[in-house]
Order: sequence, then C-alpha cells, then structure tokens
Amino acid sequence: MSDATIEALLAEGRTFPPPEHFKKQALIVGSEIYEEADRDAEGFWARQAADLLDWSEDWHTILEWDLPFAKWFVGGKLNVAHNCLDRHVAAGRGDRVAYLWEGEPGDTRTITYAELLDEVCRAANALVSLGVRKGDRVNIYMGMVPELPVAMLACARIGAAHSVVFGGFSSDALRDRINDAEAKLLITADGAWRRGQVVPLKQSADEAMAQSPSIEHCLVLRRTGQDVPMERGRDVWWHDVVPQQPTEAPAEPMDSEQLLYLLYTSGTTAKPKGIMHTTGGYLTQVAFTHKYVFDLHPETDVYWCAADVGWVTGHSYIVYGPLANGATSVMYEGTPDFPDKDRFWSIVEKYKVSILYTAPTAIRTFMKWGPDYPRKHDLSSLRLLGTVGEPINPEAWVWYWEHIGGERCPVVDTWWQTETGAIMISPLPGATTLKPGSATFPLPGIGADIVDDVGNSVPIPGGGNLVLTRPWPSMLRGIWGDPERYRDTYWGRFDGKYFAGDGAKRDDEGYFWLLGRIDDVMNISGHRISTTEVESALVDHSAVAEAAVVGRADATTGQAIGAFVILRAGFEPDDGLAGELRDHVSKVIGPIARPKTILFTEELPKTRSGKIMRRLLRNVAEDEVLGDTTTLADPSVVDGIKARYLAQQPAEE
Ligand code: PRX
Repeated sequence: MSDATIEALLAEGRTFPPPEHFKKQALIVGSEIYEEADRDAEGFWARQAADLLDWSEDWHTILEWDLPFAKWFVGGKLNVAHNCLDRHVAAGRGDRVAYLWEGEPGDTRTITYAELLDEVCRAANALVSLGVRKGDRVNIYMGMVPELPVAMLACARIGAAHSVVFGGFSSDALRDRINDAEAKLLITADGAWRRGQVVPLKQSADEAMAQSPSIEHCLVLRRTGQDVPMERGRDVWWHDVVPQQPTEAPAEPMDSEQLLYLLYTSGTTAKPKGIMHTTGGYLTQVAFTHKYVFDLHPETDVYWCAADVGWVTGHSYIVYGPLANGATSVMYEGTPDFPDKDRFWSIVEKYKVSILYTAPTAIRTFMKWGPDYPRKHDLSSLRLLGTVGEPINPEAWVWYWEHIGGERCPVVDTWWQTETGAIMISPLPGATTLKPGSATFPLPGIGADIVDDVGNSVPIPGGGNLVLTRPWPSMLRGIWGDPERYRDTYWGRFDGKYFAGDGAKRDDEGYFWLLGRIDDVMNISGHRISTTEVESALVDHSAVAEAAVVGRADATTGQAIGAFVILRAGFEPDDGLAGELRDHVSKVIGPIARPKTILFTEELPKTRSGKIMRRLLRNVAEDEVLGDTTTLADPSVVDGIKARYLAQQPAEE
C-alpha cells in the first residue's frame, strides 16, 4: 500500500472490525463480558481472581476502599511464584517452554516451566542464605537475561519485594532507588550486551553501593565475561551460590496485600516515585488482561513482548502475566538494529511469533528504516499486534497493520501506566471494531471518564482530563514512604477520582483517543492543542519520519508551536519544505495548529524508555538553561540540537 493509499484510507475514516478468521478462534467475541462487569464490577473481578489463580486461602472481602487506599481480596492468601510456575508443572505442563531466549550475540536458551521452577527455587534458597527475609527489599539491576525473571520470582517466592532498576540507568539513579527502598541485597551482572558493546553493570553497581549503606550483599551473574572487582564479604558470584542449592523451596502463602514490588517512575519533581504493587489484585488483573487483550491460546501461541523487564511493561507482560497464564514467550536481550535493522523480523520468523507487543516509537523507527527489512522475512505466523507507551499516530498504526501484520492481524492499542499495573483501556481483539489511533474503550471492570478542569464529566463527543472512576485490582497501593504525595498526585485533583495526567477525547461513538500528558497539551491563543495531534499531522506528511512538538512561550499567543522534525531518507531540509509542512498541519488540524518554528534535526532527545523529552526541547526552543538529562538515552543529543538550533535559525513565520 502506498503512502497515498494510507492517507486515503485514513481520510475515509476506515474502521477495522475483527476479521472473521480471527473471531472464529477468539476467546471473546461479544459484548456480554462488558455487561456482566457493568452489573457488578467487584463480583466480576472476584470471578476472575478465582478462575485465573490458585489461592491457598479464600478472601473474606473483595474490596476494602478507604479512599485513596484500596485492599483487594482481603484475607486471601496466595504465592505469585506458585501461580507462575508450580501449578503449571503440577498440572503436567512442566515440559512447556516458558522462555525462548535469544541473546544479542546470537546465543540462545530454551527454558521449560519445570526448569524455570528449579532455577527459581535454587535462587530463592540462595537469597535466604544471603540473609533475605520476607518483607525485605531486593534491588535488581540486570540486562535482559533469563536470570532477571528468575531473580524476581525468587523474591516473590520468599515474600521479599523486588525493585528492578532498568540496566540503562546510571549509578546515581541506582543509588537513589536503593537508598529510598533501603534494600539489603543487590542482584546484578558483570555486564550486559548492547549493540555488541558491554554495558558495565557491575561498575555502576559498585559506584552506587559505595553510597548505599543498606546493602549487605551483591549477587553477581556472569554474562559478558570481563574482569570485575569482587569485594570480599559483600560480593558473591551467582554461579558460586545458586547452582548448588536444592531445588526444593517452599512457596509460602502470602497475604493478598503483601508488597510484591516497587518500581520507580518519574513524576513532576526530581525525586522518582516508588510505585507500590501488591500480590493478589495485581496478579489477577495482569493475568486477566494478558489472556483476553492478547487472546492468548497458551498451547499454540508464541508471544513476544519486546519491552525491557526494567519497565512496568516488562514486569506485567514479560514476567507475571505470561507466566501466570502458562504462555510461551520470546525474550530478546538486545536492540532491534543489531547486527542489522531486521533483527526483530528475523526473531519473529525464527520462533514463529504469533503475538507481538511493542511501542509506537519502535514502530515509527521501523517506518523510517523502510518496509524492505520486514519484507525479507516470513512474518506469516503473526496473528495479533499490540502497542503501548504513547499515543500511536494513525499512520504508524496502519503501517504496523500493513507491513508487519500483513493486513490480517488486529492491532490492540493498550493504554495504561506504571501506576495502573495492568492494561486499562484497550480493544478486545475478537470483539472490538478498531479505529487507527484510538485505544477504544475501558476494559470490562474498569471505570474511566473524561472530565473538565473542575471535574465535571465531559459529554460525548468531547475532550478533557482522563480519570479513573473506581478502584481496580492492579492499582498502585501508594508511593513508597510518601502516602501524602500519593494522595496529592493522583487523588487530590478531582474529588474521588484517580487523575491519570493524560488528556483524552471521546468521539461521537464514545471511542477514547489519548492525547498525551496534560503537561504536553499546548494552549495557543486560548485553543487547547495536543502536541501529539500536531506531531501526528507532521508524521502524516510523506517527507517526515518523526516529529516532536512543544509549546514555547509567546508574547502574543500565550504559547507558540515549535516543531522538531526528522526527515525520511531522500528529503532535503529547506525553507520550501518547512512551508509545505506548515501548510500540511494547517490542512490536517486547522490554521491554529500551524507550527511557528520548524527545526530539522537528525535525532530527538528520548528517555531510555523511548519517550521524547519535550521539556528539554522546550528549553532549547526557549533558550533556557538545560534541565536534568540523566534519564536521557543519549544526553549529547540535546547539545547537538541546541547547536543546530542556534546555527540554523529555524525557519520561522
Ligand atoms: O501518557 C500515557 C502514556 O504513557 C504514560 C504512562 O507511562 P509509563 O508509566 O511509563 O507506562 C508506560 C507503559 C504502560 C501514560 O500516562 N501511554 C501509555 N500507553 C499509552 C499511552 N498514551 C497513549 N496511548 C497508549 N496506548
């Protein structure tokens, strides 16, 4: 399909009902499940908890809601590791593959449920031998190796909470997270592979531990093989203490509200928030969403979530959801462009992946690289595609659907957050008619609404602030050590409602369209315009590969739109093209959305999770002193853009 055909398809407002072949085998095809949940949301979740999980003791109360503090399945007991491993093995499914692991250098491992259970038990015993007890916190700082989920499950088995820190974070970020959680043990590796280079994890861990008084031991996996210093009495090798442990380790029943993990995420202040997730409600909703949003058939599907376990997407949809459901997952260690830009598609072909879950930023990168890379591979095993992490522009959605999904796979756009723990707004692929760029509807059992700035529900069609109107099982239970911040950030803005921080609108059929963070919404001459909408309009132009838009202070209009644009190969930046792009945005959204400045660039500053750091771009556009760049994937990108901005004098109207 040519770009022109995609434009025509979007212009005519084409929608995508579930394909007949997909419906034939889908777990959910009708709307009854929504009606059932609407009648009694708590009862609905209780049925899911009972159906999907093994409990060693029943709960006496489904939900205790003392706003803003929720407890789900109160009195119930279960063990997460038991639910992810033991029960599958006990049911005779020990030979099923849990992970098809592919290392970046090309080494591979196939790990069955029985093998994973043995390894988790050994690791759990090793943790106990290192002094870890129920209720302790354990920090984990590793690359995408199988020992990462093993370490998480070993913690869950003995009732210690893990706090995974993404392996791309700096030693300072690691130190702050260890100290906030007062972790006893750090689990790391000598290094991790990234684009053929060693990321020196142990070196960063050593720097962090030098200022982390709570750490008693450091358990170190050998992955990359270079020499690393080991501090006597503190550091131990994984291969010296784990393999010789017995494979028997009790999976002690935990209270449903036992802390399962902390995961730190950025807020509006410099101090990251330790988001708290607990046991029973969390596992219920991740298992439910993983099963039904991905229409999982665990006997036949090969599922691949291409996120990093260091983010919530990896926690919920590489580790806990798939394992609770007995799925077979691909886990890949490295980057999509190593050794070449077709690595993802060679993995899909090799393992016959049937469900692929990735992020819009990755999809737009694949678009930039062009369709020849996927075309080189047989992708016919794919039957369902998913996206998460940011609004997906309709062009990227259609490109994904066409070039990766071969025009036969539904695309589920899943909205959720670190704080929500699991997917909240998303299609059910056998039941929902899709619209490219819309996350469609709240899942059964989830209450979502759009409110104006004083908290009144905005009628359909209309836009405003996205809120969640009732507690949900996998909701955050708080911010570690800071209940007031929890109350203020999420529950202080609109009475009795959870404020997600996202803008959204509903169209005349009630479909939800996510518009990005509220702080990324611009106000131009009193008109609210989302950065995302303008970006989407720019990317809609055939010359544009990627775009980031910021609202910068303007004496006349309040804010003015500044656009940073990466061109596709074969296009040259000049004033003529800048004018053409402005006209294009005017045409797509309206003259009020016409960017005032356009800067052509080759890169954009992104966090390590791939989100564009608009705050930094705003600083560049307004020539302020640069803010904190420690979460940037490549801090030099901003300096480069700034230099170009000053040299180029961006085309301005
Ligand atoms: O702005 C929304 C965006 O990502 C934010 C949550 O980020 P994080 O906690 O890092 O979790 C990302 C993975 C769940 C949200 O507030 N976001 C996430 N998914 C979508 C999205 N925006 C639009 N559409 C989505 N599908």
